Amino acid sequence: MPQRNASARRGLYRGAGRTIYLDNAATSFPKPQVVTEAMQDAVLRIGASPGRGGHRLALEAGRTVFGCRAAVARLLMAGQPDRVAFTKNATEAINAALFGVLRPGDHVVTTDIEHNALWRPLRLLADRGVELTVVAAEEDGTVDPDRFCRAIREGTRLVALTHASNVLGALVDVRPIAQAAHRAGALVLVDAAQTLGEQPVDVEAMEIDLLAAPGHKGLLGPQGTGVLYVGPRVQAIEPLITGGTGSRSEEAEQPDVLPDRLESGTLNLPGIAGLGAALRYLDDTGEDLRSRTARRTAELVDGLSQIAGVRILGPRENARRAALVAFTLGEADSEDVAAALDRQGIACRGGLHCAPQAHRKAGTIATGAVRLSPGPFTSEQDVQEALAAVAAVAREVAP
Ligand code: ALA
Repeated sequence: MPQRNASARRGLYRGAGRTIYLDNAATSFPKPQVVTEAMQDAVLRIGASPGRGGHRLALEAGRTVFGCRAAVARLLMAGQPDRVAFTKNATEAINAALFGVLRPGDHVVTTDIEHNALWRPLRLLADRGVELTVVAAEEDGTVDPDRFCRAIREGTRLVALTHASNVLGALVDVRPIAQAAHRAGALVLVDAAQTLGEQPVDVEAMEIDLLAAPGHKGLLGPQGTGVLYVGPRVQAIEPLITGGTGSRSEEAEQPDVLPDRLESGTLNLPGIAGLGAALRYLDDTGEDLRSRTARRTAELVDGLSQIAGVRILGPRENARRAALVAFTLGEADSEDVAAALDRQGIACRGGLHCAPQAHRKAGTIATGAVRLSPGPFTSEQDVQEALAAVAAVAREVAP
């Protein structure tokens, strides 16, 4: 059990057996042990609801939530913690942003590689009278800022796009697009589901007004956590749901102040406590973790490119790629390949990744693709074993 011992030394829970986990783009695993400890502490010792009562446990729960909110704001280089609202995942955060700011007649510019988390609510809004312009990305997922900016016009209300496709992995240069959006008086929503924690994000320098991200991917927190950052250019945002906020209870209207406006109902204290611990862990080790993940990604690209029958999706240069590598094996069905890899102890994701648009772009809508996504705790040996397993499957299905 050398792997288990190494994991124990790093203070990680590795999970059972000898699975090599390469599905970090869906959910990062393992989590730092401090995450589990903080969640357990929230359940066993704090227990109470934040903002719901004046007793000492409720106050401690409130401090735990505030600590995490402040840590997210610091990570985003966003001055005010109050501008960070907690959600249960990135999808909820994206929905809160889109339904919060868009009204019938508004014009939105987006791309043709968006994940369903953004694409489906946008299509629903289009059915309700929002006008959509969909700009074509390149086949590798790159978004040409000039082409995108030409679609922005006077009266555009929002540009909404991914920071990196969860299939193609190409990093999008957000800043020039955001600058053009602001010149036209539009707001900028960025889906950072595949990048936050793993790539630097500075909402002020990148001129991002609304940023949605999960807590359970690059931030290394637990499932059931997500965040929506709402920048100062967003002057009004309608809440997705309304209800008790623990504040201004005498009023029938939802409070105007953030984050209360967007946070009705009891918050996920154990999840937020875990996310807060993950953020402290990232703060201490972030640069090192990021460069480790980038090295593993590059090793995967290099190794896969030497296997006959493999076609790698996304950009050629590793510097333009988030930490995921999707590929096809000849005409093989990606779900079959992923299942064959699973039988060899490699956990990865095949299929369409809830992103049919990106697959249409890559020409892989029929087969899907197999996606290997390393995390900060993926070792070089894990990558080598995964590559050997892919080579073995390739010999069988695409000889
Ligand atoms: N969770 C989705 C994925 O696996 C976005 O890519």
